[in-house]
Formats: sequence, C-alpha cells, structure tokens
Amino acid sequence: MQQIAIFASGAGSNAARIIDHFRQHPSIKISLIVCNKPGAGVLNIASKEQISTLIIERERFFRGDAYVPELQELNISFIVLAGFLWKVPAALVQAFKGRIVNIHPALLPKYGGKGMYGRFVHEAVIAAKEKESGITIHYVDELYDHGQSIFQASCFIEADDTPESLAQKVHWLEHEHFPRIIEQVLSGSASPTP
Ligand code: GRF
Repeated sequence: MQQIAIFASGAGSNAARIIDHFRQHPSIKISLIVCNKPGAGVLNIASKEQISTLIIERERFFRGDAYVPELQELNISFIVLAGFLWKVPAALVQAFKGRIVNIHPALLPKYGGKGMYGRFVHEAVIAAKEKESGITIHYVDELYDHGQSIFQASCFIEADDTPESLAQKVHWLEHEHFPRIIEQVLSGSASPTP
C-alpha cells in the first residue's frame, strides 16, 4: 500500500478532493495530513475523514530534521503539496527525491516564486492583462515553484474577470485534474510536460 501525506496550510478544498478520489483505491492511501497552521480548515477535513494529522513547527522544519523521521516511521512514500505555503527544505527534498509534487495556481514559469500564492497570483495575472491563466502541477525541488512540470491546464480570462472570479476558475481546474494526475504519477503513467 502506498501511504501518501498531504501538506496543506489553508481551507483544504484540494485535499478534500484528493481524499475522496483515493477513498476506495486498492493500493494508494491518504494516511497523513501535515499542516503548519493550527486551526486551518484542512484539519477539520482530516478529523471528519479520521486521517492522522501532524502539526509542524517552523524551527524544526527549517533548522531541524524537517520531520523526515516521522514521515519515514509512518511509511510515507509520497508527498503532495496542496496549498502548502512554506518552502520545502533541502532535507525533505533529498529524503523524498522525485516523490514530492505541488500544484500552483498559474501557468509556471510565470507568476511563481516567493510571495506568489493565492490571490496575489490572480491579482498579478489580471494586472498584467493576461488572456489566460491556469494550473501547473510539478515535481518539487529546492526552489519555489521550480521543479519539472508534470501537467498544465488553462482557462481564458474575460475582460470582466476579477482576481476572485479567476480564482474560482482556477480552483475548478485544480479540483478537476489534481487527483487524477497524482494517480498517474503514482502509477508511473504521467508524462512530464516538455
Ligand atoms: C490552491 O489554489 C493551490 O493552487 C494553492 O493554494 C490553494 C489552496 O487551496 N497553492 P485549498 O486549501 O486546497 O482550498
């Protein structure tokens, strides 16, 4: 059984879709929710779904062992970042090389990097008068929003779109594609975007 950990900092709508997608899966199990924000909505989802949680602290995450021993003890074999706002430290990237994926609410490499998350992304895209936006699912390396891209999907931006209405379009794409792409990566059938 492949044990998956989802790292999240916010409401957890992506985590909820991923948990639902793998609920009856014969060989993949969402067995841990890792969160850096006590009180985050994703923790309510975890308790409703009776999935174990691990609340992490900044000091140990960045200057300690990045909780690698805990993750290994729980036989976690793959990590999904679903709205996790902290940068992943080198110790964790090394311990889970090629086994960490992230979703970013824009078409990387544009609109990525430090400070580019949530509404800040959509505000920047709208301010730049872009014609389209979308999602990027990518492997995680030691740089923000940088690792090899696995999948992208886009949506058009209408003249009257606001950061809020764009965020909704992008969330729809995330919920539609992220669980399926995770399954493809885990079954070895995902083909990285060139
Ligand atoms: C998503 O838009 C994701 O792309 C971004 O953070 C947001 C998390 O939303 N990295 P939720 O917590 O899954 O609802």
